[in-house]
Amino acid sequence: MADLVRYEIKDGVAVITIDNPPVNALSPAVWEGIDQAVARASADPAAEAIVLIGAGTTFIAGADIKVFDTLKTREDSMTRSAGTHALLRRLEDAPKPLVAAIHGNALGGGLEVAQACHFRVATKDAKVGQPEVLLGIIPGAGGTQRLPRLAGAKMALEMSTDGKPVPAPKAQQAGIIDQVIDSRDGDLLTGAIGFAKSKAKNRETRKTREISLSDDQKKAGLEAVEAARAALQKTAKGMHAPHAAVNAIEAGLRRPFDEGSVRERELFAECVVSTESKALRHLFFAEREVAKVPDVPKDTAAKDVKRAAVVGAGTMGGGIAMTYANAGIPVLLKEVDQAALDRGLATIRRNYDVTMSKGKMTAEQVEKTMALITPTTSYDGFDQVDIVVEAVFENMDLKKATFAELGRVTRPDAVLASNSSTLDIDEFARASGRPSQVLGHHFFSPANVMKLLEIVRGRDTSKEAIATSLKLAKKLGKVGVVVGNCFGFVANRMLAYYMREAYLLLEEGASVEQIDRTLTEFGLPVGPYGMQDIAGIDVGARIRQYLKSIGKTRAEGPQSEIPDQLFEMGRYGQKTGAGWYKYDAPGSRNRTSDPLIEQLAEHAAKKRGITRRPIADEEIIARITTALANEGARVLEEGYATRASDIDIIYAYGFGFPRHRGGPMFYADTVGLDTVLARVKEYRARFGDYWEPAPLLEKLAAEGRGFYSEATVKA
Ligand code: 3HC
Ligand code: NAI
Repeated sequence: MADLVRYEIKDGVAVITIDNPPVNALSPAVWEGIDQAVARASADPAAEAIVLIGAGTTFIAGADIKVFDTLKTREDSMTRSAGTHALLRRLEDAPKPLVAAIHGNALGGGLEVAQACHFRVATKDAKVGQPEVLLGIIPGAGGTQRLPRLAGAKMALEMSTDGKPVPAPKAQQAGIIDQVIDSRDGDLLTGAIGFAKSKAKNRETRKTREISLSDDQKKAGLEAVEAARAALQKTAKGMHAPHAAVNAIEAGLRRPFDEGSVRERELFAECVVSTESKALRHLFFAEREVAKVPDVPKDTAAKDVKRAAVVGAGTMGGGIAMTYANAGIPVLLKEVDQAALDRGLATIRRNYDVTMSKGKMTAEQVEKTMALITPTTSYDGFDQVDIVVEAVFENMDLKKATFAELGRVTRPDAVLASNSSTLDIDEFARASGRPSQVLGHHFFSPANVMKLLEIVRGRDTSKEAIATSLKLAKKLGKVGVVVGNCFGFVANRMLAYYMREAYLLLEEGASVEQIDRTLTEFGLPVGPYGMQDIAGIDVGARIRQYLKSIGKTRAEGPQSEIPDQLFEMGRYGQKTGAGWYKYDAPGSRNRTSDPLIEQLAEHAAKKRGITRRPIADEEIIARITTALANEGARVLEEGYATRASDIDIIYAYGFGFPRHRGGPMFYADTVGLDTVLARVKEYRARFGDYWEPAPLLEKLAAEGRGFYSEATVKA
């Protein structure tokens, strides 16, 4: 038997312990080990029952995701999963009570193993789930067939389409867990052995696959199938796996277990080789890779942030203070005067009221959280904090003055972070008098909601400040990505190229509505124009004004005048009731088209000597994604991002780039870098020299490689 699975007899029960750190993933050797151990226990006269348990902090977190890369064809997958299905059937056929003892997580294949056991017990804080759809696949080890038999089709559909884990008490109510082991009854293993022995008295076994559903249950199940399909039209746009999960569950309701299982295997096999699944698996590992910074070793001293301060209680400062308070960290919130402070606090209160009205927080939780935010108009108490986040106006002189003050009023070891979206971190660092402690913490709006945090590394930023920021990001519930200090950092630097294409496409003949629709159909939550109306047209306009004053532009190429014209008209977007769209009232989200935009586009086209033309949706996607990939290649080559996958994470979490497309760099690989390069060259010929291929793109395309050279992801 493999070392990964241990066997021992305790109190007359065979205890099989899976020990494959860190999460007991089901590698082929673990599957084999479980199979052999159950066979051994079945034949062992010293064992009256069998308990399957995980070593360490968890039961089984699922199949080993890396193994899916070895399944190159549907046929590979069909063969492999036929073996798994047969193995689980052997477990289910064990002649003695077989009990899964769950702590931590029983996810994916882990829950499917547990479903093939005769009974399941769990600690109160354990979670069970079928998160396969989050990896672009479906439960492939019988979960779509056994879970509806245990928990009913409705619950199985929910779990298999949203992928969210379910806490043990709820799982018990649903019939997935037979008993929650209370810590007063001893530890999980002792409780599980006691439970198994109670079942052994009558040699009680129960095969989930033999639970039959009544006609009424099947009818209700099929209704739930239709309801799930309807819901997915909205929630799973452009995705395949959630629909496949519904189809597999439907097959199990309409046909006997064995036939349903074959259908599950076919659907799983289609999913596992799909681009959608490769993209989602890529992001799973990218998200775990992102916290590893090559020259900041894992053991770098990272400070535990216990107290914080935020300077500026505007749009961003208020959201950042909420983020700290939500994580239980007391935070001072400083403003210039009481009136500004009151405005900031009123916005924070309004935001919490909305959260409360949605039932996501109780009144008591809101009060407790808000009590962690201490408003102030002075620097009193700044000598007690571990970190300050500066979020004053985007103005170099003001920021430098603020950092000089922060250098004086904080402890020498305090981290000083700026939320600036464009300015040079090194200038603030110098002004502070202790540059090693200074870096950027670039939050995204709304800061209390968006998960991305760009951690901007200045020339002198210490490794400790980076390690502290990465640890803090996790505590704040953010995904921290370390980036270099260039204009716009990574997210907004690339976005400038995305927006450039959106503006030019409008002038060339596409409409605001067409461009937004095409990109939302591609999978983005909002198109470029809708996004700008939310963020504020004034924000970009002020950045352009600043750049103009220092003789720079944001992206190469012709600059559309339309956004600045809207700015001059006071059309800042939703907040003023008009921007790229018209809104019912300032602050409303109810929008309608505005013929004025077409007029402005006509005028701009004329001025540039362009005849407007109908533009296909495909061209919109191709132009915008090519612009992102080409600039992404530059960012990578210049070392402002550590790896291509960091860029993909930035776009997935900062802008909602569709996860099932893997991020702009992964998406470029699926298109093929040869095609991406050919497009850049075509656009240069058609539109001008500002379309210049990034050297890295040329190099990789010439070598027949992608940004991810190890995995060929071309669809
Ligand atoms: N396969 C391979 N590696 C895995 C893994 C898995 N199923 N789950 C986690 N890991 C690895 C991570 O990559 C990470 O590796 P690293 O340290 O080298 O970066 C390490 O285990 C620890 O993982 P986390 O950093 O995510 O640890 P957390 O404690 O934050 O989270 C977790 C633990 C909730 C279990 C989380 O890891 C998770 O959600 N895992 C994936 C669960 C999942 O999707 N299971 C379904 C797999 S598909 C399947 O089972 C198909 C079946 O139907 C046949
Ligand atoms: P804002 O204008 O809403 O808020 C700035 C606040 O700072 C104002 O309330 C002002 O009174 C206050 N302030 C000015 N000087 C101060 C001082 N000396 N002490 C204390 N408070 C002071 O601006 P916003 O949008 O919150 O931007 C703040 C920073 O965040 C800027 O650097 C901006 O570039 C950046 N940012 C903005 C994003 C956005 O979407 N709005 C996104 C990411 C970063």
